[in-house]
Amino acid sequence: QYTNEELKIKIDELKKKLSVTVVAHFYQRDEVFEIGDITGDSLELAMKTKADDSEFVLFCGVGFMGQSVKVLSPEKRVVMPKIACCAMARMIDSIYYDDSVKFLNDNGIASENILPITYINSNADVKAKVGEMGGMVCTSSNAKKIITKALGEGKKILFVPDRCLGQNIANQMGLKSMVIGQGGDPKEADIICYDGFCSVHQLFTLEDIEFYRKKYPGIKIATHPECDPAICDASDFVGSTSQLINYIKELPQDQKVAVGTEFNLVNRLRPKNTYVLSSTKPECPTMNETTLQDVYDTLKAIDEGEPINEIEVDPKTQKWAKVALERMLDL
Ligand code: 13P
Ligand code: SF4
Repeated sequence: QYTNEELKIKIDELKKKLSVTVVAHFYQRDEVFEIGDITGDSLELAMKTKADDSEFVLFCGVGFMGQSVKVLSPEKRVVMPKIACCAMARMIDSIYYDDSVKFLNDNGIASENILPITYINSNADVKAKVGEMGGMVCTSSNAKKIITKALGEGKKILFVPDRCLGQNIANQMGLKSMVIGQGGDPKEADIICYDGFCSVHQLFTLEDIEFYRKKYPGIKIATHPECDPAICDASDFVGSTSQLINYIKELPQDQKVAVGTEFNLVNRLRPKNTYVLSSTKPECPTMNETTLQDVYDTLKAIDEGEPINEIEVDPKTQKWAKVALERMLDL
């Protein structure tokens, strides 16, 4: 019943009164993103929030992001205005993870020769499995660094859940990759990817790239590594959300750029010669679920002493998921 302007004032009042830090990912709606005390890509959010000392973290993003804060800092109270699960994270659980390990075992690769890496876009149960098996987490901004380190151990890499990120890094590094269920011999591959993907980043096509290159000769194409390898190969720049923003900011004023990632982020960079690389609006439905009203309701619940949507992780899962996340942060 309040307008966004009224809600912003009410949220501000509650923020001043309570020990709460509001965290927001770049894909959040503009009005939600604007009230974030901490903003950034997945890696920056995990690191900056870990260093923050408020009693409550109010996380505006998708489930695995809030959960990662709780795993890293179990003493913090983490609440989410909407507990919306990233569609990619939902594609794998601990049972599908075990099946992937079994697939490798059945194909002559013993568990001690597998080094698992999970993209941060996964739930804590999968991170815990990976941690327990000696592996670690990566994000889109550090995947190459993490995989370079992992390869040093001379093992096969099981990469879950994003087949696109896994294949894109393999291509960048001149490594062989395969996707479970799509044929190929794992003994021949350096990186064996689980067949998960982001439906939002699957929207970008080679036809979209051709369209922009024809319409605006000289235009740059910048994409997120969750896009299909064919799209990333045809791009001028590939990077995480923060890396995309920095790349675009550094371009000359008159340089046109078409960007392949979530709509809210790209729209915030317009009109400065920035285009959405898609004929369909690439909105992440779960990121868009959180509204200012939800943020206000969640703050009000804290103020009334009855927090809602609090994230809990069971101790065993927390312990091993933390190991997997900290191995990444230590790098
Ligand atoms: P970043 O780590 O680049 O912020 O990506 C998160 C994400 O969910 C992209 O779809
Ligand atoms: Fe998950 Fe894709 Fe949304 Fe990112 S854009 S949060 S990977 S569904």
